Amino acid sequence: MSRLRPIVVGNWKMNGLKSSVAEFSRITEGYDIGLRAKTDLAICPPFTLLSTFAVVALGSRVLIGGQDCHRSPSGAHTGDVSAEMIADTGATHVIVGHSERRADDLDTNAVVHAKARAARRAGLIAILCIGESEAERDGGKTLEVLETQLAASVPDGATADNLIIAYEPIWAIGSGRTPTLDEIAEAHAHIRHQLVLRFGDEGEDMRILYGGSVKPSNASDILAVENVNGALVGGASLRAVDFLGIAHSY
Ligand code: G3P
Repeated sequence: MSRLRPIVVGNWKMNGLKSSVAEFSRITEGYDIGLRAKTDLAICPPFTLLSTFAVVALGSRVLIGGQDCHRSPSGAHTGDVSAEMIADTGATHVIVGHSERRADDLDTNAVVHAKARAARRAGLIAILCIGESEAERDGGKTLEVLETQLAASVPDGATADNLIIAYEPIWAIGSGRTPTLDEIAEAHAHIRHQLVLRFGDEGEDMRILYGGSVKPSNASDILAVENVNGALVGGASLRAVDFLGIAHSY
């Protein structure tokens, strides 16, 4: 296993109502001493549940994150939420550049770059997502796409304390399909190489998560791949039994 402390993050996407507190409580209750010794655990609920979950999580050491943030700290941006507002709820992390937000150029690399800077400004750890489309993979462009996204969306001065990279092949999200373990290893090694080229030793300490159809049945194989320092989990994070099952794969 890697020397970096892993983190398993649940991205609830646009799922969850007040009634979901019960399921989230099962996650906090299941994060026992044994599991805490092995891995960090975080849930990124929709904005509407951030404050509630932050209170429920108190004392459990389960971390809370937002799913996106605006680049500005405040101002005339109807419907947006700033990194400062997310931090104000008690959250410690925020996802930026998820492919569902990059879709249709809503979040370009430049916008993701600005959001990652905003996260740092607010004292949050950015979980910055990158990943290739199916056409890009089929065209042999995966490593090139990852390199471009990293170069253009990761801000200068990033450190292992304020940045986590999440590799999420777009075609693996919610599809039940995953790359082979060798393909995951190749992508993560390439990301590590780019991080080290740019940030030196600091790049060795940055965590790189895999995301895309992670479930209890495939987690132990994926999490054992070199340079995979945790997982970003969508669908399987909505049920405590599945999410904890993934974390228990460590
Ligand atoms: O951010 C996590 C996500 O995109 C992966 O989703 O449902 O394939 O685990 P899922």
